[in-house]
Amino acid sequence: MKLLVANWKMNPLSVSQAIRLAKAEDLTGVVIAPSFVHLGEVKEVIKRAVLGAQDTFWGREGAATGEISPVMLKTLGVRYVILGHSERRCLTGETDEMINKKIQAALAAGLKPILCVGEPTPVRRKGMTAAQKFVKTQLQKDLKGVKRPVIIAYEPIWAIGTGKADKPEETAKIHRFIKKLIPTQVIYGGSMTSKNIKSFLKYKEIGGALVGGASLNAGEFRKIFNAASQPS
Ligand code: PGA
Repeated sequence: MKLLVANWKMNPLSVSQAIRLAKAEDLTGVVIAPSFVHLGEVKEVIKRAVLGAQDTFWGREGAATGEISPVMLKTLGVRYVILGHSERRCLTGETDEMINKKIQAALAAGLKPILCVGEPTPVRRKGMTAAQKFVKTQLQKDLKGVKRPVIIAYEPIWAIGTGKADKPEETAKIHRFIKKLIPTQVIYGGSMTSKNIKSFLKYKEIGGALVGGASLNAGEFRKIFNAASQPS
């Protein structure tokens, strides 16, 4: 079964909206990743979907003002954690070294990390080989010393939130490349919609989708789910 992750990012603004959205997206095989402050309430209303977090800190407990421990997330019922998202890398200066520590801590706490990698526009302009090289370097740094399985989300930065999804055949090519380096489940993220999801998921090496913007619209997300559930 393909994995479908709803990455709500810094949305919606109120608990009641988060609860409404969670009820509408409570579907089997779906990971709902709300904001930290909505995790507890979302957990109470979902029965089929499972809970994901959008980040974690690398420390277990103690003096780390403002941070969230992976053990806290696990205790709350979180199963998956998105790590290394390009928005965190770009907006908060998260480095590969930090991401590596977060992955190790998440695994130690019993969470399933979803590691996001992907190249920026200038790299992809140079071609597929340059994009693959970029992704390989990220994977080597982020997964240094990591022995347990990690899900990889390939998210080319230029495709995130732009309405310009990658070409499915090129995504499939990069996924094959990643899977040769690390035999694991690889999912795609970047302007996924109900219109384009089937063209991606028909490739066996594309193991699912990380859906951002479209997951904020319950009707659209249901269509994405239905399209993803149909045999291709
Ligand atoms: P998008 O975001 O679907 O809005 O492009 C994907 C992501 O950043 O996970």
